[in-house]
Amino acid sequence: MPFEFASRINRLPPYLFAEIERQIKEKKAQGVDLISLSIGDPDLPPPPFVTEALRQEAADPKNHNYSFSQGEPDFRAAVVGWYKTRFGVDLAQEQVVALLGSKEGIANIARAFINPGDRVLVPDPAYPVYANGSTILCDGISKPLPLLEENGFLPDIENIDGRHVKMMFLNYPNNPTAATVDKKHLKQVVDFAKDNNIILCYDNAYSEVTYDSYRAPSILEVDGSMDVAIEFHSLSKTFNMTGDRIGFAVGNKQLVAGLTKVKSQIDSGPPVYTQKVAVKALAAYTNSDAPEFLRKNNLILQERRDLLVDTLCKIGYKCDKPKATFYVWVNCKGDSMQFATKLLDVGVAVTPGVGFGKYGEGFARMTFTQSKERIVEACNRIAGAL
Ligand SMILES: Cc1ncc(COP(=O)(O)O)c(C=O)c1O
Repeated sequence: MPFEFASRINRLPPYLFAEIERQIKEKKAQGVDLISLSIGDPDLPPPPFVTEALRQEAADPKNHNYSFSQGEPDFRAAVVGWYKTRFGVDLAQEQVVALLGSKEGIANIARAFINPGDRVLVPDPAYPVYANGSTILCDGISKPLPLLEENGFLPDIENIDGRHVKMMFLNYPNNPTAATVDKKHLKQVVDFAKDNNIILCYDNAYSEVTYDSYRAPSILEVDGSMDVAIEFHSLSKTFNMTGDRIGFAVGNKQLVAGLTKVKSQIDSGPPVYTQKVAVKALAAYTNSDAPEFLRKNNLILQERRDLLVDTLCKIGYKCDKPKATFYVWVNCKGDSMQFATKLLDVGVAVTPGVGFGKYGEGFARMTFTQSKERIVEACNRIAGAL
């Protein structure tokens, strides 16, 4: 019997990565040794103290009951402590909610605040969940906030019409452009949100994956942000724990309460043992500097970044060395789908920029979540193809 999808499912845009995924599958079936520079998932392992904590906490039968929708008190206390240590931001426990990874919170925040037809400003190019999993699946209307090269991939706040907008998303360090932001720009954003009474959803998933002494700020460091902002974070990229699904949202009390209300009807919080592991992981920060394991992790990534960017520049493709994330956003001088297909022909998978939004056209995203040896091999193949 044919069943019809809900109309909101039909409003989801066509999946632009599907064609590339089909080609990848075909290459693999042909036995091609494919190097993927398209995966946004770290290949490096979690630090050993984290896997040991996971072993211990999972072995404790007391840690297998339901958690609270807002998260365990110890977990929320650890997040409060981490924000104070890392960013110098004061929070109360009621300003924290545990998430099944930040993606879940980003999708559910719209369920708490977006009515059908409400407008949401969504960066373009961007992580697709803001427009799709969040806005469209809540019957909101997504309005693009172009991130252009000439503006350093930051939104041109002075020229945005904020009238009749209910919510906006922003993400720095940024996926896919790898752009970073300073507090001066964030202050402009907070003022814009306050002036227009807009809920500001700030995605800070990559704040700890940084290079060259850059330290990413929290939106909550900015004056006035607690009036309008909620920040999403997770242990996924910081501790190489993407599959463990543990994250958190913090900030404005009412926004956190709304998200918690939605979650209490949908899930019962992350597993208690992962929250206990997160408590131990976050305690690795004893001051605002990155802890030892993270410095080592970022140095490995930095070496790979340099290799990839130096090669691309040498063969005439313009891209900057990013100060954060594990992405390189390459100006591919034309159609991004064709560029990706050309590289696939030599066994290298990259992500066409158009898949992140129309303003992503003309760029491709390459990740350095592969070993140095594989990146060298990928660079050789790219140099040959281009
Ligand atoms: C910008 C951005 N935000 C959020 C996420 C979600 O991460 P997680 O749900 O693992 O916390 C990702 C994942 O790739 C991302 O790139």
